[in-house]
Amino acid sequence: MTAELPETAGQVLVASNRGPVSYTRSADDGSLTAKRGGGGLVSGLSALGADAGTWVCAALSEDDRAAARAFDGRPPAADTGGQSVRMLDIPSETFDAAYNGIANSVLWFVHHLLYQTPLEPIFDAEFEARWEHYRAYNLAFADALAEEAAEGAAVLVQDYHLALVPGLLAERRPDLRIGHFSHTPWAPPELFRVLPDPVAREVLLGVLGADRAAFLTRRWADAFIACCAALLGAETTPDSVTHEGRTTRIGVHGLGADAAFLRDRAGRPDVDERLAELRERVGPGRATIVRVDRTELSKNIVRGLLAYRRLLTDHPEWRGRVAHIAFAYPSRQDLALYRAYTAEVSRVADAVNEEFGEDGWTPVILHVKDDFARSLAAYRMADVALVNPIRDGMNLVAKEVPVVSENGCALVLSREAGAAEELGPDALLVNPYDIAGTAQALHEALSLDQATRAARSRRLANTATALPPTAWFLAQLTALRTTA
Ligand code: G6P
Repeated sequence: MTAELPETAGQVLVASNRGPVSYTRSADDGSLTAKRGGGGLVSGLSALGADAGTWVCAALSEDDRAAARAFDGRPPAADTGGQSVRMLDIPSETFDAAYNGIANSVLWFVHHLLYQTPLEPIFDAEFEARWEHYRAYNLAFADALAEEAAEGAAVLVQDYHLALVPGLLAERRPDLRIGHFSHTPWAPPELFRVLPDPVAREVLLGVLGADRAAFLTRRWADAFIACCAALLGAETTPDSVTHEGRTTRIGVHGLGADAAFLRDRAGRPDVDERLAELRERVGPGRATIVRVDRTELSKNIVRGLLAYRRLLTDHPEWRGRVAHIAFAYPSRQDLALYRAYTAEVSRVADAVNEEFGEDGWTPVILHVKDDFARSLAAYRMADVALVNPIRDGMNLVAKEVPVVSENGCALVLSREAGAAEELGPDALLVNPYDIAGTAQALHEALSLDQATRAARSRRLANTATALPPTAWFLAQLTALRTTA
């Protein structure tokens, strides 16, 4: 796909915490090896052409920081696949407090409703110190963007890590067109109010520094608008927020799955190999319930396993006839709570196997080591996909499995996932807290006749691919440039 407009250097900038490249230092000779990431932003930016834009990101680890210093903040094209990248060498204490201490432990918790409120959160002096670091980290991004951007450039700022950047950048460079995109849900006012008032206002005003603030679904956009009305007294419409004489447009862009990429990648020999191995583990003639997640606290993997246990209890006819393929890939393991959650997933999976397993039948096949080829193999095998997050901005797994599954899959989907807005009509929607209800939905999904399941899966795949990553990215850029 080619860009709609020819771009020249410095005219489009993307800012995100995690960039398109990361580094690992070899223990043997100390050399730095680059690894490139994927996703919607990578394909979107590359569609603009070689020189179009610069991506500003943080160095995430000691090895990244060493690389950022070695390359003077500009990783070479050979490492980035040609993409111009500016990697910020933010001091580790500041980065850690901003990323782990605020972004993943506070903002993520607020937007995903994860606090166990009798004992947390506690906003004390430690929080205040972290918040200072979060400000400094956002400031480092705003300064770098102000330096990199050509006159009148479009800047696409990503996510809760960088909530303050639009406001800080607009002060420095009023000539720029600034967009902010939230990849998470947004908390409704009664929950957003958990944050200390000045902090809640600072976050909202930060995002409102953008000319356009966009979300994955209408529901999250409405929640943001409601927070602006309730906490700032802003004037709002369904597509704008006006505060102190300044108007921010509100947009919705439902990121979809990349059908061409997925189908091509899922047909490669390494996926075939993994598929053969998985088939052998599942055993002949058994139906499969597939889930693939990072072990984020919002993914609700433990309740998913409990629902599967309940299925085997309430419907013993499925014993020996079904296998639950659960891939739970560790994420954010610097945080104790995330580590404990990852351990709990393994413990509950083992307990289900202990309770129901028989010779020749392993009820839960759990893998915790990230392997994209194996995930795609599981997608191909899926009869049922289980996607039951407590809350999720979109959830791309829900969109990807129907595209790749060979025989068509039924989708058991949390009504709290952003994807439910689009996929709801052809999915079996569940309340993610309700174990019995989820177990019943799994039973219904397994019981669907093949023709119905295949027809639903085709419709799911069509809906899921309506706005592929490149189009999603370009739609934001065009809207940012053309809306007043
Ligand atoms: C999830 C969220 C994104 C977020 C990302 C950060 O995928 O949906 O909104 O940007 O996590 O993940 P990281 O591994 O960088 O903490």
